[in-house]
Amino acid sequence: MSFGNWNPRRYLEIYFPKDIGYEPAIEFIVQQRKNFQGKIGVEIGSGPTVCYFSAAADSLKGIYVSDFLEANLEEIKKWADGSGYDWGNFSRMILEYDGSNQSISEYEREVKGKLSGFLHCDIREKDIFGNKFDFVMSFYCADSMTDDKEKWKEYFTNILNVVRPGGFFIGGALYRCRKYMIDGAEFPSANLDENDVRDAMIDAGMYDITVKVADDSMPKDKEKREQLNYTKIILMSGFRQGRPSLEDITGSHALG
Ligand SMILES: C[S@@+](CC[C@H](N)C(=O)[O-])C[C@H]1O[C@@H](n2cnc3c(N)ncnc32)[C@H](O)[C@@H]1O
Repeated sequence: MSFGNWNPRRYLEIYFPKDIGYEPAIEFIVQQRKNFQGKIGVEIGSGPTVCYFSAAADSLKGIYVSDFLEANLEEIKKWADGSGYDWGNFSRMILEYDGSNQSISEYEREVKGKLSGFLHCDIREKDIFGNKFDFVMSFYCADSMTDDKEKWKEYFTNILNVVRPGGFFIGGALYRCRKYMIDGAEFPSANLDENDVRDAMIDAGMYDITVKVADDSMPKDKEKREQLNYTKIILMSGFRQGRPSLEDITGSHALG
């Protein structure tokens, strides 16, 4: 599948409009912050999207963002430099879910301070970074680059394998969706349900798994989502089995 006709800015305008309602993925991340407090994390397949790592950043020591397309990372860099997409309404929502009265500008300044680096990634690779992280997040990446469920499972497992033993994963996928649109361009989706996700996480050796289907998402109008070929999303999280190795504990790895 080619992402040659991917337009980062149009993707944001269509899927992350300023007019937001309830966003279960952001709420889910904020609710799970205790599971990755003080860690260094990575978002895999971040796209040009700020709101997910932003929702996690408050409790993290640092966060790397990664994507296959440089143009997506450039869009996030523009935001970090103060000239990119306006995520203010999403930051307000994060603060609301957190019950915080911090100002949006102060919050965003802190999130920008947590950005540890921008990495190229290809989730088709078995060993994505040659490295493990204590916290990994990935929203609509493995499920949104293939319509082949077998391939999705392989790529999703590659992502889960970035989680260090004892570490935590959180993510999202489109529910029972076969394709999504950016203007006239079609992109594939793996037609997943909650059982596909749970089975893949169990097979990858995750535990304390949460998988749930949320009726709301973005854009907030269900009819608009129907036009884009999906209405619901799947949210997931879990820990990776095993004890960290001595090398993991001493932190003698390149990135984290
Ligand atoms: C639907 S977007 C999701 C972006 C972002 N996580 C979000 O929720 O808005 C799918 C993302 O998968 C990325 N992608 C496509 N092929 C990839 C690959 N082989 N490895 C890693 N990411 C890939 C695309 O560049 C795009 O950013």
